[in-house]
Amino acid sequence: MNPPRPEKDRHLVERYRRKAARYDADWARYTVGTLRRSLEHLSWQGNERVLDIGCGTGEVERLLLPLLPELRLVALDLSADMLEIARAKFSPRFALRWLRGHAQHLPFADGSFDVVLNLNAFHYFDHPVETLREFRRVLAPGGACVLTDWCTDRWRFRAIDLGMRLFDPAHHRIHRSAALRETFAAAGFEDVRLETYGVGWFWGMATVSGCAPRSSELAPRERNAAPIARPEMQHGRARAARSGRVPST
Ligand SMILES: C[S@@+](CC[C@H](N)C(=O)[O-])C[C@H]1O[C@@H](n2cnc3c(N)ncnc32)[C@H](O)[C@@H]1O
Repeated sequence: MNPPRPEKDRHLVERYRRKAARYDADWARYTVGTLRRSLEHLSWQGNERVLDIGCGTGEVERLLLPLLPELRLVALDLSADMLEIARAKFSPRFALRWLRGHAQHLPFADGSFDVVLNLNAFHYFDHPVETLREFRRVLAPGGACVLTDWCTDRWRFRAIDLGMRLFDPAHHRIHRSAALRETFAAAGFEDVRLETYGVGWFWGMATVSGCAPRSSELAPRERNAAPIARPEMQHGRARAARSGRVPST
């Protein structure tokens, strides 16, 4: 696994220390829009083991748990301040565990979860393929991973990405949607699906989902893993969401 970058992590923790108290108020519409769309990629039995990586203030847990109270959820984030806001929202009756930790070094045994979520955080991660492999490692065979993030399919996000790369030490990069899909395949996920959409007039989003292989063998694509974010990749087109029940509030 890749070496930790404590300086970068310090920037991130400091940023969310400043933002945590106002995060929900500042990002409410964006958050609900992206999280609902992300959950449409999943169908549920209701008792899954779910890992939410970069859980922030626990908004996806707030959408899920009232509808599916038997879920066994672990929510992990680097920021203790975001976790504190999240923790305060929930009754102890839910099987919900909050954990401070790093997305690239997950403290779980192989195959510990049925669902991994990574919502609105992937642009921070330095090593996209390796990080997704780590997500896949903790999934049981056939388990699902759903990732949502900004994408550079819209020109303005190419400019935003450039600015952030120059001036934001916590940022890694915003990817093209097609590159996110390729990264899923390179990390060994199967049945990869991509959806692109807007939230309001401004935000250009991509949601990618995929399954951990059902057999323990590596998926054929992984043996010839392609590098992340090849700029020549084509724009991904929105595709039908994975079938299943859509949680709604
Ligand atoms: C924009 S917030 C999104 C929060 C939540 N997923 C949502 O959609 O509302 C990004 C979160 O990712 C967390 N994060 C960023 N890099 C991380 C890492 N390497 N490991 C764990 N959490 C990370 C941040 O601390 C922050 O809480």
